[in-house]
Amino acid sequence: MPRGTQVGTSIDDALVVLRRGGLVGIPTETVYGLAADARNEQAVRRIFATKGRPADHPLIVHIADAALVGQWACDLPPAAAILAGACWPGPLTLLLRRRPDVLDAVTGGRDTVGVRVPAHPLTGELLARFGGGLAAPSANLFGQVSPTTAAHVAHDLGDLVDYVLDGGACPIGVESTIVDCTTAPPQILRPGGISVEQIVALLGEGTATSAGAARAPGMLPAHYAPRAKVVLAESGVEAAELAGGGHHVLIVDRTGDLVEYARELYSDLRRADELGVSTIIAVLPPAAGLGHAIRDRLAKAAAAGAAINDR
Ligand code: TXA
Ligand code: MG
Repeated sequence: MPRGTQVGTSIDDALVVLRRGGLVGIPTETVYGLAADARNEQAVRRIFATKGRPADHPLIVHIADAALVGQWACDLPPAAAILAGACWPGPLTLLLRRRPDVLDAVTGGRDTVGVRVPAHPLTGELLARFGGGLAAPSANLFGQVSPTTAAHVAHDLGDLVDYVLDGGACPIGVESTIVDCTTAPPQILRPGGISVEQIVALLGEGTATSAGAARAPGMLPAHYAPRAKVVLAESGVEAAELAGGGHHVLIVDRTGDLVEYARELYSDLRRADELGVSTIIAVLPPAAGLGHAIRDRLAKAAAAGAAINDR
């Protein structure tokens, strides 16, 4: 019998675990992360083993303050400085040229490192007291739905995680926007909590939204997948038609409020699995603001189901 997951609000307890090379579930404004000391190779390797994540999918380094970027990146290009100044702390990850002493286990052996300053009071204090960087992917098993509460982390990882710092439900609910600042112009590799429109307003029209798969190896077409099959609908009317009064179907439609849609998205997908429905019909929001990130995650959840059904 696995013992129960340790969940609590003690920053002291989380620090003890991190300093001895353990794993802590950390709350952020986007989703919960599975954190380890980014300078401890064994601890970082345990993240990959715990998630079942391929070793060439790099991890984001979380730091307390933009002033610490120089410990991880060898330069901060002007566009990156603008984004960091405007968006940190917040749901934005910058890809920068790595310093040579950053662990290959963190960067997947790439010449870049992803860095972000999360906006969450508990994790902000944890990072400030820890002093270093915390490498953290989302705290779910590889390919599955990201966690937005401490209970989700405990459910997914059980006693594979040494401590879960409970900071409540994540207020944004979808992952950070990733911007590659090593290219000119910078490229948005993953839509997320900071909208594409906000980035373009800060950097200008030249900013490319690009095929992320080649440059960010974690950006698989199939991801974020519940057990239920996910079917996409363009409208509530289409969703109702597709559902056709079926009993094992759940319709997810929060298109009236995209902030709520993003915040509740992963909980909705998880709830469908708890209810044991066979199909989730999700209504796509408009491709604007947070809608870009919601559409991206839904498309990947739907592609994952298709991949399973093709087997
Ligand atoms: O909001 C978030 O970003 C959450 C919270 C916990 O901070 N983290 C998160 O991590 O979503 P993860 O590992 O689930 O997704 C990070 C993505 C992966 O697709 C990874 O391949 C990409 O970022 N990435 C990280 N560092 C990279 C690098 N140096 N080069 C290319 N892609 C990188
Ligand atoms: Mg993830």
